Amino acid sequence: MRRLVIRSIAAVGAAALLTLGTACSNEREGSTSSDSADGKGFAKDSLIGVALPAKTSENWVLAGDLFSDGLKDAGFKADVQYAGASTTVADQQAQISSMVTKGAKVIVIGATDASQLATQVSQAKEAGATVIAYDRLITNTKDVDYYIAFDNFKVGQLQGQALIDGMKAKKAKGPWTIELFSGSPDDNNSKVFFDGAMEVLKPLIDKGDIVVGSGQTDIKQTATQGWKAENAQQRMDSLLTSAYGGKKTLDGVLSPNDTLARAILTSVKGAGKAVPVVTGQDSEVESVKSIMAGEQYSTINKDTRKLVAETINMVKSVQKGDKPTINDTKSYDNGKKVVPSYLLPPVIVTKENAAEAYANDPKLAPLTK
Ligand code: BGC
Repeated sequence: MRRLVIRSIAAVGAAALLTLGTACSNEREGSTSSDSADGKGFAKDSLIGVALPAKTSENWVLAGDLFSDGLKDAGFKADVQYAGASTTVADQQAQISSMVTKGAKVIVIGATDASQLATQVSQAKEAGATVIAYDRLITNTKDVDYYIAFDNFKVGQLQGQALIDGMKAKKAKGPWTIELFSGSPDDNNSKVFFDGAMEVLKPLIDKGDIVVGSGQTDIKQTATQGWKAENAQQRMDSLLTSAYGGKKTLDGVLSPNDTLARAILTSVKGAGKAVPVVTGQDSEVESVKSIMAGEQYSTINKDTRKLVAETINMVKSVQKGDKPTINDTKSYDNGKKVVPSYLLPPVIVTKENAAEAYANDPKLAPLTK
């Protein structure tokens, strides 16, 4: 399947500069106007719709609460919905249509399936609403106005580098044997994470310094449908049976997020193998505990509080009839247009920097003491 997001190293570099931008929002590099805002604005107490995917990781649970509270605090009415666990696509399509019917002025969407929302976002545009893709891009439609997310390609690069660093720390010289996991194929982010990680890992695989024990390096082979823990655990179980008989060691596993990392660790421990270096993402409570206990090697801090706050800032700009702040106009081609984006910088976290990384997070900071 053709994938739609094209990233360049230059764009990643530019995104890395964003740390500075966060501190001085009026001077963000590359702030630009887009042709999507109509400049008219709308009433301050209007309805804002937020359609989120199923609760496949803690970040989505937190985002829902933060949107409800934050939008209300800003004076808006909020309609926050999650797709159900099984009929995710149909649920989300119906929820977005209903937000349009209720007259939502902005619809923020964390897509459950990137490519299945063209009809609904077109309805939204026709009704005069602004569409913001949140965390996950919506593909194959002109009708998405803005994209806001942590820099997904950078997330993948950080995961790939953490895997190498963690393995080197345990065994200075390769070859190291690894397995690769990726996220759900219907989430546009999955390929972006994987591509970022492979950009770092592939040169070592090509040199023979890293060996993928099962030989499964294609994203189709590594995918985890629905981002479900049980699917990752089953795949790890069968890889261990087929490719890690006897004393064969597994040095590392590229895991795209924390939920899957813990499932992979459960599988490896169940098979009686030594704990490999396993990456993650999302800074979930159980994974931060696991990192501090020396099991999971790394996670990524993508502070949901920041992402939601910046999304609400975007909504406020649109409400006033202003153009929201955009800092990337190159990276996210959704197949029909390059979506003007606001990207935040992700942070890699290992046991070494956890205390520092979570110092301002009341939930996670105590776990690092
Ligand atoms: C998000 C990740 C999350 C995954 C599963 C992705 O789109 O960017 O943070 O782990 O979905 O919920």
